[in-house]
Formats: sequence, structure tokens, C-alpha cells
Amino acid sequence: MEVKFTEYLISNPDVKTCPKADKPEIAFIGRSNVGKSSLINMLSNKKELAKISSSPGKTQLINHFLINKNMYWVDLPGYGFAKVAQSKRIAWTKMIWNYAEQRTNLLTLFVLVDSRHKPQKLDIEFVNKLGEKGIPFALVFTKADKESQKEVALHVSLFKTALLKTWEELPPIFVTSAVKRLGRKEILTYVEDLCKDFEVQIP
Ligand code: GTP
Ligand code: MG
Repeated sequence: MEVKFTEYLISNPDVKTCPKADKPEIAFIGRSNVGKSSLINMLSNKKELAKISSSPGKTQLINHFLINKNMYWVDLPGYGFAKVAQSKRIAWTKMIWNYAEQRTNLLTLFVLVDSRHKPQKLDIEFVNKLGEKGIPFALVFTKADKESQKEVALHVSLFKTALLKTWEELPPIFVTSAVKRLGRKEILTYVEDLCKDFEVQIP
């Protein structure tokens, strides 16, 4: 798909007040600072559609963007950021899971993982929980410009091995760099295919 139209719509603290679930939706989740907002900007060809920051904890609400007037993209707060007050961390975690479990138009969650690191327990646990709850997701390995291709491939492979301890099938996997605009076409083609199957669910 081509991204021709983008519009910031609304930020919500609760899934209940999000826009009506009448259009297909994708969302971006992952540790604080992994590059969720940067990926949205890269995919949409807009420098400042989603707000980014070098300090973790920038995105604090459920942010809806209208794309091509016919689908929503959603920027979510990160998980696992130790320096945020515990009360905030608990609230964000609750917000994220309520969103993931209750949003009926969610086609898939893109779970972002930093390609510079070996599999981290928090990411594996998050993904395993999505699997247990039957929430569809794809993995996106971010910041691939920061390491050699060999190192990135090793981390992807180790992550797959960790998942195969629990699951027989692997989710779709993408490798991206917001700086080098790597992985853009692959993700957009995947999203276009997912949209074809969308049907509005009447609650
Ligand atoms: P929170 O909203 O705080 O959870 O963070 P986020 O996951 O939305 O991350 P964000 O997009 O704000 O990016 C965090 C930092 O990583 C910023 O300084 C970005 O410039 C940088 N960054 C994001 N993606 C990439 C990438 O692909 N390559 C490089 N080199 N830096 C990146
Ligand atoms: Mg963000």
C-alpha cells in the first residue's frame, strides 16, 4: 500500500474512549524507546506524525492516526521502563493489555524488539502472553542500522529459538531501520494484505 493521507486524531488513556472500531487497525507496541513512534513516522513518510524522543517514556497514551482515510494506526506507550514511577508503569501495562484484548478491529499488533540485543525476558514474556491470549502479532526488529547484519541476524535467530520452546509456529518477522528506511515496503505490503480480510464486528 501507499500512504497518501495521514492525520493525527486523538490520544486516550483508556480503550473505552478510542474512536469507533469501524475501520481496520494496526498498533505498535514494545519496550520504551525501542522505536515505535519512529517506525510510524518512517512507514507514513512523515517526520513528525508521531512524537519521538531520545528519552524513554515519551508516548504515554493510546494515540490514533487516520491513514488513507480508511484505517487506523495506533502508537502505544512502551512497557518495561524502570525509571517511570511504578504507579505509571502499572497504569500503562493495564492500558496496553486492555487495548490489546478489547479492540475488536485490531488486525495485528506489531511488537517491536531492539535488534541490538539478545532476547530479553520481558519481550519473550510479553509475546508469549499474546500467544496465550490469541492476540495476533508480528515481530519487528528495530534499529538494524546500529549493528552489523550478522549481529542482527543472530539476535533474530535467538529470538526465534526462544519462541519455539513454547510455540510450534513463528509469527511474521520484519527487520527495520527508521534511519535507513529499511523494512518499509515489507510491512506496508503485509498491512495491505491484512486489511483485505477486515470485517466490522458488531459488539
Ligand atoms: P516511547 O514512546 O518512549 O516508548 O519510545 P518509542 O518506542 O516510541 O521510541 P521513539 O520512536 O521515540 O525512538 C526512541 C529513540 O530511538 C529516538 O532517539 C529515535 O531517534 C531512536 N530510533 C528509533 N528508531 C531508530 C532506528 O531505526 N535507528 C536508529 N539509529 N535510531 C532509532
Ligand atoms: Mg513513542
